[in-house]
Amino acid sequence: MKAHINDIGLAYSDEGQGPPVVFLHAFPLNRTMWVPQVAGLKDRYRVVTIDLRGHGESDAPMWRYTLDQFAEDVHGLLEHLGIAKATFVGLSMGGYILFALYRKSPSLFQCLVLADTRATADTPEAKAARFSMAQIAYRRGASSIADLMLPKLLSPASCEHRADLRGHLRTIIASNQVSGIVDDLMAMEERPDSTPLLSTISVPTLVIGGEEDLASPPEEVEAMAQQIPGSTFVRIPQAGHLSNMENPAAFNAALLSFLTSVGNSNL
Ligand code: MLT
Repeated sequence: MKAHINDIGLAYSDEGQGPPVVFLHAFPLNRTMWVPQVAGLKDRYRVVTIDLRGHGESDAPMWRYTLDQFAEDVHGLLEHLGIAKATFVGLSMGGYILFALYRKSPSLFQCLVLADTRATADTPEAKAARFSMAQIAYRRGASSIADLMLPKLLSPASCEHRADLRGHLRTIIASNQVSGIVDDLMAMEERPDSTPLLSTISVPTLVIGGEEDLASPPEEVEAMAQQIPGSTFVRIPQAGHLSNMENPAAFNAALLSFLTSVGNSNL
């Protein structure tokens, strides 16, 4: 399905019935990364997955993305769908966007799930790496970004042994338009430090970290969780950065257990 939000076509899926759970994907993927979670939740929840601008079946305008713009797109889509409050799940870049959304509209949040993400801003080295990656995307196209990103997205074991997952991710990444990749990189490079926000988060929060996540190591993710009052941290075994895809059974179990545990008082 596609909705016209903030002057672009935004693609999304809306399946199941029950309390809404909204999923925001990582860079440089799209909403199909959440297929195992849609399957695991749609019997009990209304599950919304979104192709962020620049990704999947959504439009990829050339100019200009910011995390606040992504957050406004999500807010606009929720208004379109008549959803006033939801549980939000964001992985990596999806988590960065949730910080921006929470900063602006905390009343939208029933619960928060942050997976394999970080609150800190980019270091000078990370900013320089974004610029180099953007140059590579311009010169060599989206498939060259797949070569660079796969070893960061998957655990070393999955990278070596899971040709199925590798191939699937390569197809998703290569299908991106260069405008989407480059503008994502610029938006992430400009993001503010959200660390001061952490202690103000007042909704039930689950934080998830893949045990072998090289991009956002679980120790750092756990340290972030410790700054969010009352949050729960779960480490996903046999998983790297894309913990929901590498070990969907453990990811879904953590998510469902969290949603059930807050069920009586919050959903
Ligand atoms: C992601 O998975 O969304 C990226 O690793 C985020 C980033 O590059 O900071």
